[in-house]
Amino acid sequence: MRSVIDIVDLSVEELRELMQTACDIIEHPERYREVCRHKKLATLFFEPSTRTRLSFEAAMYELGGNVISVSSAGASSAAKGESVADTAKTVSCYADIIAMRHPKEGAALVASRAATIPVINAGDGGHNHPTQTLADLLTIYREKGRMDHLTIGLCGDLKFGRTVHSLINAMSRYEDIRFVLISPEELKLPSYVKKDLLGRRRIPYWQTTALEEFMPELDILYMTRVQRERFFNEEDYLRLKDSYILTPQKLKTAKEDLAIMHPLPRVNEISIAIDDDPRACYFKQVANGKYMRMALILKLLKEAGTL
Ligand code: NCD
Repeated sequence: MRSVIDIVDLSVEELRELMQTACDIIEHPERYREVCRHKKLATLFFEPSTRTRLSFEAAMYELGGNVISVSSAGASSAAKGESVADTAKTVSCYADIIAMRHPKEGAALVASRAATIPVINAGDGGHNHPTQTLADLLTIYREKGRMDHLTIGLCGDLKFGRTVHSLINAMSRYEDIRFVLISPEELKLPSYVKKDLLGRRRIPYWQTTALEEFMPELDILYMTRVQRERFFNEEDYLRLKDSYILTPQKLKTAKEDLAIMHPLPRVNEISIAIDDDPRACYFKQVANGKYMRMALILKLLKEAGTL
């Protein structure tokens, strides 16, 4: 059974097809209104979420399907000690496809091995978040008109930020990509990402603690929040939380066609004064996320023989 746990579960060609489907959905939503009639998506969210869960659910409704949902760990048998594998087997009896978010790294993989229906990883701890990356990829494509020859700044919590790990993994498969990694010392990109992805693929990257240092070079600036829930102590979080706040002043040397991205939720990382700047793309990412999730649900249900 085909599941999507990691962004590299999808080839570059498949990413292109998904973006094409998403663009077709944007242009002709009426063609897709009934395609998932009588099909059910189960959203199993054992960690907080607004965009990811609601966009999966909106996606399934816009495809004409239905949704069943667990919206917190406390509201399901996980609170009684049920294993992820048993939950996945159970939900396989009720639904046609699962989208799952869990605080533990690897939980979606475990679920996919036990389930008899496709499982989509909607975020596993500080590890991966492939469908946020699908939203990010479509945004990059629609804003820049290309996926290659880009200098991408990633700023904030590069250690625990799962969206960053998945985005690096996806973008480093395209031609002539360079990364600028902007973080405090304590929140640097984990060495497994640096060695396994950037090192092995010989992708050029620079590390800095200063947000403005490489600003004039950047085509994309991807801001992230400090991931409070993954810290071991509150003091460290309080010390690091406002390390970077993007303001109009800091954008003075930026390119005119810079794309400013953020997976959201934003805490303090981007001043609201930037929201009206035409380079701000974070709410476009939200919209694109729904279309890419529609495309992904369609693809996986077709491959499973459900559609
Ligand atoms: C991200 C996540 O859950 O990792 N949110 C999202 O899905 N858009 C980013 C975050 O929580 O900071």
